[in-house]
Amino acid sequence: MLLGVNIDHVATLRNARGGFEPDPIAAAKICIENGADSITAHLREDRRHIMDNDVKALSKFVDAHLNLEMAVTEEMQKIALSVKPYSVCLVPEKRQEVTTEGGLDVAGQLIRVTSFVNPLLDAGIMVSLFIDPTEEQVRAAAKTGAQFIELHTGQYSNAFGGPYEEEEFMKLNEASRLAHALGLKVNAGHGLNYQNVRRMHQIIDLYELNIGHSIISKALFTGLEDAVKEMKKLVTKQG
Ligand code: PXP
Repeated sequence: MLLGVNIDHVATLRNARGGFEPDPIAAAKICIENGADSITAHLREDRRHIMDNDVKALSKFVDAHLNLEMAVTEEMQKIALSVKPYSVCLVPEKRQEVTTEGGLDVAGQLIRVTSFVNPLLDAGIMVSLFIDPTEEQVRAAAKTGAQFIELHTGQYSNAFGGPYEEEEFMKLNEASRLAHALGLKVNAGHGLNYQNVRRMHQIIDLYELNIGHSIISKALFTGLEDAVKEMKKLVTKQG
């Protein structure tokens, strides 16, 4: 499995003072140098962490595959088509939420999502849809033309170590199995940390894990190099 590091919270810290430190671009370089295979940045409508200039700078940082996380809005589509990141991940977005709360309802807005995806694919951008691990959403995602889905691991992460862990894990496993059968590549992310990430190896053929909060949090104590290296080891090898 590959490791994508989400650097949003480097920008959260920078924005707390409105200055330039810590620099998300410098953080992205450190992540790549220490094993990250891609960098994810979520440009939110309210620009609470990553800002437009960050996205531009990250897209010019040639060694990194930039995965731009964004909502299904005209504004974001325009930005993606001008910046041309390696990939985009479409997520639902609510202004009041602390973090992305659920997956994108692709099944409930199939025509809208499909017509949003098409120009991105035409521009050579890989498209991923962040969805809950349900049969309905996986089947809908496969109809849009997007090459990837990213399974929302939030419920599994919350349930980890408790009575519902197995149930939530099985939802991910079944969704991944179906997605592969339908020709999709499968990423996963949200709430993964140094403990619960291990079970991701038991899911059939996951391609990449996108992890942010736990890595940036650990980096405060160990430094970003070690935090990324340790996660990379867990993501690369079972055990
Ligand atoms: N994937 C998606 C689609 C997300 O929205 C997020 C959170 O921004 C992540 C992965 C990373 O989640 P976490 O910060 O909990 O690792």
